[in-house]
Amino acid sequence: METVETVAALRERRRALGTADVGVVLTMGALHRGHLALVEAARAENRHVVATIFVNPLQFGPREDLARYPRPFARDAALLAAAGVDLLFHPPVEELYPPGFATAIEVGGPAARLEGAARPGHFRGVATVVAKLLSLTSPTRAYFGQKDAQQIAVLRRMVADLDLPFELRTVPTVREPDGLALSSRNAYLGPAERAAAPALYRALRAAARAWRADTRDAAALRRIVRDTVAAEPLLTLEYIDIVDPLTFAALEEAGAGALIVLAARCGPARLIDNIVLEGAAG
Ligand code: PAJ
Repeated sequence: METVETVAALRERRRALGTADVGVVLTMGALHRGHLALVEAARAENRHVVATIFVNPLQFGPREDLARYPRPFARDAALLAAAGVDLLFHPPVEELYPPGFATAIEVGGPAARLEGAARPGHFRGVATVVAKLLSLTSPTRAYFGQKDAQQIAVLRRMVADLDLPFELRTVPTVREPDGLALSSRNAYLGPAERAAAPALYRALRAAARAWRADTRDAAALRRIVRDTVAAEPLLTLEYIDIVDPLTFAALEEAGAGALIVLAARCGPARLIDNIVLEGAAG
């Protein structure tokens, strides 16, 4: 695996990969099996795999965790090399945002509610950096995790609206054995909080079971999640909603393919998770 840190070097190495299919995996590092599942999916479908590690300051709010976000670069690079990544882009902040940088991509629609409302400017920062990184890496396919379902909806909207010639692929959420979705931010959890956090996915699963048993009323499904999470005093639900997976509009009736999405505080960490409503009773 070759690692490059400048736009010029990335362009040159990308050109050397030629016209064969390239899969790209964009990350902020602090890698876990969720990120590696994206690399694996990219490997399976493309001749080359390019990865990026960049903790994007534009997508962090002023009171968020930019300064303490973990940056174990040597470990991350070793994991990506072992996973079969060909080219790693790891730029310093000034390389992507030089003095005078003054452009942003503002997606409306699916970016408006939930994470967009809770984290003003977050999706503007995500869309801006992803547009730059896709333009620089010029992939055939780009891989994103279902864990960040609203991010996927926002990026699909951006790619469609700007006619970007990249295919976006979604990879299922990778979880701990107890159901907690893997996240770089799980490192912030103390032992008691770590023990409480799996209640989020238990709550989502309880609602999905009710849906398979024919509960379609979104208010009833939300109540099931709320009641399950409320039994865990270390968890505070920030939002819970049933939404269309493309528009992120709130639904009153949950049809097949609808998403249950939530965010919760757990001690110093803010956790998000979601579940797709699908499948037969069981
Ligand atoms: P980051 O949080 O590092 O996540 C990078 C990618 O890994 C995203 O597509 C995310 O959805 C995926 N991912 C994270 N946890 C996962 C899990 N448990 N299972 C499957 N996939 C998972 O998302 C970002 O970075 C940034 O917003 C980025 C897109 C890199 C732009 O800065």
